Amino acid sequence: MSDTNTRSSLVIVANRLPVTRASSDDRWETSPGGVVSALSSALVRRDGTWVGWTGTIDDDPGSFTHDGMHLEPVALSDVDVEYFYEGMSNATLWPLFHDAIRPPIIDERWWLNYVDVNRRFAERTARVAPPGATTWIHDYQLMLTPAMLRELRPDLRIGFFLHIPFPPIELFDRLPWKVDLLEGMLGADLIGMQRQGGVENVLTASERHLDATIDDGVVLGGRRIRVETHPVSIDVDAVLELADRPKIERDMAALRSRLGDPDVVLLGVDRLDYTKGIDARLESLYDLLDSGRLDPESTVFVQVAVPSREGVEEYTEIRESIRRLVGSINGRFGRLGAPVVHYLEQSLDLAQLVVLYRIADVMLVTPWRDGMNLVAKEYIASRLDGSGTLVLSEFAGAAEALTEALLVNPYDTIALRDVIVKAAAMTDGDRAEVRRRMAALRNEVRTHDVHAWVNGFLESLDAETTHE
Ligand code: F6P
Repeated sequence: MSDTNTRSSLVIVANRLPVTRASSDDRWETSPGGVVSALSSALVRRDGTWVGWTGTIDDDPGSFTHDGMHLEPVALSDVDVEYFYEGMSNATLWPLFHDAIRPPIIDERWWLNYVDVNRRFAERTARVAPPGATTWIHDYQLMLTPAMLRELRPDLRIGFFLHIPFPPIELFDRLPWKVDLLEGMLGADLIGMQRQGGVENVLTASERHLDATIDDGVVLGGRRIRVETHPVSIDVDAVLELADRPKIERDMAALRSRLGDPDVVLLGVDRLDYTKGIDARLESLYDLLDSGRLDPESTVFVQVAVPSREGVEEYTEIRESIRRLVGSINGRFGRLGAPVVHYLEQSLDLAQLVVLYRIADVMLVTPWRDGMNLVAKEYIASRLDGSGTLVLSEFAGAAEALTEALLVNPYDTIALRDVIVKAAAMTDGDRAEVRRRMAALRNEVRTHDVHAWVNGFLESLDAETTHE
């Protein structure tokens, strides 16, 4: 195709629509999050459509418009949610793509349902996409949709972005459906990955398993599919606005005082997911308090764990073990009215998070593996005064660019403990070093925000597609 129209209409296809129903009534609200907001504004600019699931079983409200976006719901039944969403997406692909920390479950029924749901997304998109539209398909739930859509609508320009890591071939090869998944993704004109390692893994897998050559992308069936890194980011301006609002200093002082005015506030904010390493973080904290390297009288740790995918067994298991760890730390080291760990199992809005980010001397982002990790970037953006220390797992996609964070291998338990102590000590100690690092991190996040991500991906997708 040689369509040079760079402003064709845009169709976004993702498992979830960018809206949720307000709990009080039947109105729709735009879902929180910088990625949703950046994609939504690109959609509104291009008079586009978003195809996705409402998040409620058997919900089929028909097409509607919200905040200038045309929304096309794809209904999912209870079987779809069990097989496609909780099963194939989140108990097979999710653990495997995050290094098989948990053995992925291989279930033919889940796979067949995954194929079926991916086809329904492709069919719905094919029905609503205007001629020659640019279509942007998102994430591991919809890896087959690009090829299915191309078959139905060869006139479309198709992009695919994987928000999670793409695993090395030794892991990917375990999937009985590896060829189907690769061919599915390669139905796109452009495949976007969070990090260079993911690009290399896709190229290696394609060369190994398909009749493809690698030449400035994957050359397959007479088409060249470009595979590029496009690291996702945050809406920096939205965070800055909240971090700089008039009342913020008062809210910060009030919160710090509610925490007992400790010398050091450590913070973790994660989806309650076993990939995030919350348990290892708490185990380190226990050990550091036990050995006297951290003082329970002057240190608090706030952990926000946002409930997630509660229908998947592994998620309830990790929730229980986190609760046990929090209980054991507070039971042993807390005092009446003064727990060491303040644990919230709930979702906070960005304004509340920004207050937490601003009082946190140390932010602990220590996943075993993470596609990107936007919390790390939100923390940096909120640190207007240039202070604050980010401890970041080298296995988060964010570590590729945020090299001035204190990088750590979370599997190295000694290193994890040492870096927490070092970060806590830097709060009061080496302030110049803290500021030097934060200045570099802020510069990086400011110049690569979510709008740069959306525009960069779409510009690359809209650029002339070459054919072999
Ligand atoms: O990071 C991967 C991802 O699937 C995102 O696309 C999504 O926002 C998040 O995890 C939450 O997942 P779910 O839609 O399963 O609640």
